[in-house]
Amino acid sequence: SASGPLRLEDWIRDIPDFPQKGVLFRDITPLLQNPEAFRAAIDRLAAHYSGAGIQTVVGVESRGFIFAAPLAYLLGCGFVPVRKFGKLPAKTVSVEYALEYGTNIVEMHTDAIKPGERVLIVDDLLATGGTVSAAMELVEKLGGHIAGIAFLVELTYLKGRERLKGYDVFALIKY
Ligand code: PRP
Ligand code: HPA
Repeated sequence: SASGPLRLEDWIRDIPDFPQKGVLFRDITPLLQNPEAFRAAIDRLAAHYSGAGIQTVVGVESRGFIFAAPLAYLLGCGFVPVRKFGKLPAKTVSVEYALEYGTNIVEMHTDAIKPGERVLIVDDLLATGGTVSAAMELVEKLGGHIAGIAFLVELTYLKGRERLKGYDVFALIKY
């Protein structure tokens, strides 16, 4: 078309000094709010993984759910949530990981992934990689095979990808 392909980065808003001074926050809500941009993001992720033999899509609470669920639907896969501590009702595996201050615990149901299953892990954004590393540990504790790790946004300057060495990492937008 005359306007060319939709540029996803045009729908990310920069918010200086959020949540604290010195941090430039990449806000994805304009992209979610625009029907064409949201659809393009999901369709491009689906195109990247179609034919990859993904069996289950794992989404990371909470912004990861927004992308993981429609992607699972398009790929014809089930959806599995990684949730913050204390939210899942059945038997869980859990992993504790470091935050800037203190720690956090994430959980997954023990029957959510079968040994050898080909899993795609999805989150909205890769920063330090701490959150997605914890999700990866959960999948691997259950014997799942991590076939891919997908993000809408990667903050390359935080070097999160270095923690994901040896894995297939894909991001639609890089800063
Ligand atoms: C944000 C984001 C990623 C994570 C990235 O989630 O959605 O999950 O941080 O940071 P990291 O790579 O340094 O771990 P947040 O914890 O703010 O939770 P939310 O999705 O519930 O807003
Ligand atoms: N934007 C959104 N989420 C985030 C960011 C950011 O810049 N950094 C860590 N989580």
